[in-house]
Amino acid sequence: MIEILPVTARETFPVRQPVLRKGRPIEDCHFSGDDLGTTFHLGAFEKDKIIGVATFLMNKDVHLEDIKDIKLHHCYQLRGMAVLEVAQGKGIGKKILKHAEQILKERHIEVLWFNARVNATAFYEKMNYQIVSEIFDIPGVGEHYKMIKKL
Ligand SMILES: CC(C)(COP(=O)(O)OP(=O)(O)OC[C@H]1O[C@@H](n2cnc3c(N)ncnc32)[C@H](O)[C@@H]1OP(=O)(O)O)[C@@H](O)C(=O)NCCC(=O)NCCS
Repeated sequence: MIEILPVTARETFPVRQPVLRKGRPIEDCHFSGDDLGTTFHLGAFEKDKIIGVATFLMNKDVHLEDIKDIKLHHCYQLRGMAVLEVAQGKGIGKKILKHAEQILKERHIEVLWFNARVNATAFYEKMNYQIVSEIFDIPGVGEHYKMIKKL
């Protein structure tokens, strides 16, 4: 059974590191805004082991035409979405994101947006997120699209 639970930023590192920061030092797993009061992190647990994570930060992308009229405190950004390689493709990412959407709706958040790795865009499209930018490069991480969903 998979359980989705709130976790601290540090608790996400055992998943962030092998999936998103492979071969890089643990300090690279820290994101700015990780410890803000408005930020929350979710972990997917199988028994006691954390196998999937995602982080949600109050943030607005001023360049996104789609959200220019929405107030900052109604916008959240997804970062650090990752599932351990051995556990991918089993519905865990979907479960984390659905759980987060429910929390965000309860908090009256109107929009969830993020920079999606090109390889992951099909996963997000299945969950009704839309690409709203040209492709762009994030140095050291790779090519991305901005994606959003109005909740
Ligand atoms: C992207 C990721 C978070 C998805 O999590 P997951 O648990 O593997 O995905 P799920 O099993 O919940 O997939 C849900 C659906 O999306 C599909 N899907 C998942 N990853 C996909 C991918 N990379 N490309 C195409 N489809 C994908 C699944 O087939 C599934 O389809 P279905 O509902 O029709 O069966 C995970 O694969 C991962 O950590 N990848 C590496 C890191 C990464 O790219 N993170 C995203 C950074 S923006």
